[in-house]
Amino acid sequence: MNEYVEVILKALWFFLPSMVGGIGATIAGGGIPIDLGKNFVDGKRFLGDGKTYNGLLGGVILAIIVGIFQTLAVHYTPVNETWHFGTGFSAVYTIMVLGFGSIFGDVLGSFIKRRLGVERGEKFPVMDQYDYVLGTLVVLVVLRWSFFYQHYIEGIAWVGLLVLLVQTPIVHRLVNIIGYQIGLKKVPW
Ligand code: CTP
Ligand code: MG
Repeated sequence: MNEYVEVILKALWFFLPSMVGGIGATIAGGGIPIDLGKNFVDGKRFLGDGKTYNGLLGGVILAIIVGIFQTLAVHYTPVNETWHFGTGFSAVYTIMVLGFGSIFGDVLGSFIKRRLGVERGEKFPVMDQYDYVLGTLVVLVVLRWSFFYQHYIEGIAWVGLLVLLVQTPIVHRLVNIIGYQIGLKKVPW
């Protein structure tokens, strides 16, 4: 495989648990809001009714499930072990960090939206598409630097990071249109 194709595919592959975080949150979402209905000092909701404990849990759980399937896929197919998240507990930890980072970014995005007076569910370009990616990258840098450096920076790996950032709004839009069509989302963004 061409080395550029390989770093790009790996950058996307290792980000899959994070990418499905929002889907898991949307499927499992509803119920008690994370902010318990409370307001911030500006009189607006901390996060709003769109961020719930069920969504948080559903997002992290789906990320872990997908990470486990990926690990099995690498194990039972002839691709080499460089496609693994790591070995043993470090792999599980990395997958959990990816799922948590996704939801962390999503929640932080809503916090910022509320501060700017954007209502729950109201469209907010860039933030809606990138919050989970940025949240995941920040959490990865802090909690899993060696993994981040190896797969998203080192050598030509940064090309993969670039492609990841470019595809984000496109794939996000497609996934949300599908979610809207099948009745999972109230709005197609
Ligand atoms: N959801 C949830 N808990 C989360 C994330 C999402 O319950 N932590 C559910 C909510 O029902 C939410 C839906 O998934 O309405 C879609 O998620 P998202 O688009 O992120 O939320 P919005 O409703 O657009 O709210 P916000 O404006 O705060 O982003
Ligand atoms: Mg939204």
